[in-house]
Amino acid sequence: MRHLEDGFGRRFPYVRLSVTEACNFRCTYCLPNGYRKSAPHDFLSVDEIARLVRALRSMGVQKVRLTGGEPSVRQDLTKVIAAVADAGVEKIALTTNGWTLARRIEAWAAAGLTHLNVSIDSLDQKTFAAITGHNRLAEVLDGVERATQSGVHTKLNAVLLRNTLGDGFEEFASFIQFRHISVRFIELMRTGDNTAYFQAQHVSGSTLVDWLAARGWSPVARAADAGPAIEYAHPDYHGRFGIIAPYAPGFCDSCNRLRVTARGKLRLCLFGEGGVDLRDLLRNEGQTDALIERVNAALSGKVRGHGLASGQYGDTRQLAEVGG
Ligand code: 5AD
Ligand code: SF4
Repeated sequence: MRHLEDGFGRRFPYVRLSVTEACNFRCTYCLPNGYRKSAPHDFLSVDEIARLVRALRSMGVQKVRLTGGEPSVRQDLTKVIAAVADAGVEKIALTTNGWTLARRIEAWAAAGLTHLNVSIDSLDQKTFAAITGHNRLAEVLDGVERATQSGVHTKLNAVLLRNTLGDGFEEFASFIQFRHISVRFIELMRTGDNTAYFQAQHVSGSTLVDWLAARGWSPVARAADAGPAIEYAHPDYHGRFGIIAPYAPGFCDSCNRLRVTARGKLRLCLFGEGGVDLRDLLRNEGQTDALIERVNAALSGKVRGHGLASGQYGDTRQLAEVGG
């Protein structure tokens, strides 16, 4: 089978597709004032998504993660999942804040969802409400419980914040002691809109690594198709901790993903600039070859790594725009 490859020999079996820019939470690091509509909501339709994913599938893409914004604000999300499944993609993942998870997980699973990441930055109800702007931790946790029962492979994502160190780690450790679930902490990333917040709240992933090492957790060997997380296991715990540290040296060497925005722009790096518009080739059938050609041409220009260390964080204003 043909495959997508860049000038550094990296292959891209994994695509993150944003399906909306809208969100119903107000996470302090992302949309502290809530989502405000800035352009008409003409996000990729189910048909456009189907064409895109079929083309990518023919280029060896095996995993598609649906992101946002908050993907579940789309009423037709179940149809989107089914369209990706119809294209023959093996792993269909969703990143969600869990708002409607409890009610909808069964329909999503039936449509073909295989993997789920639920964002929970704190297991303390008050802290959760302070971060997200909504006092919904109990509902979200109910959703997580149902998701694990539905057979969808479920993980938790938490952003590593200065405010939630220490006690926050303890709470997650208790949560995963008897649950086969991974909680992955993501180092806070600087974007165009969160500079002051970043300066106040960013802590290095090594804070968690040190905390884990001091309590007997040890790193687990990574699977070949694994994402960027380094996972830690402990003999007394069923679950795992993970850490995603985009500021760590060498983070980009194993880059295996591409991003497509909700308006059909191909983004080669979360911290890059601009994007290659694919939408004109998604409106009708029969443009698969042209689409593949355009994606390949763009890939040949993918740079080796992001410029975060030198203060270049690209033109992403907040991750709701490009789906994290
Ligand atoms: N830094 C790190 N993670 C972020 N997320 C959103 N914005 C940021 C940021 N600036 C996370 C969300 C969610 C995922 C989609 O990305 O919490 O887990
Ligand atoms: Fe919404 Fe996700 Fe941004 Fe939170 S991080 S405001 S849930 S898009």
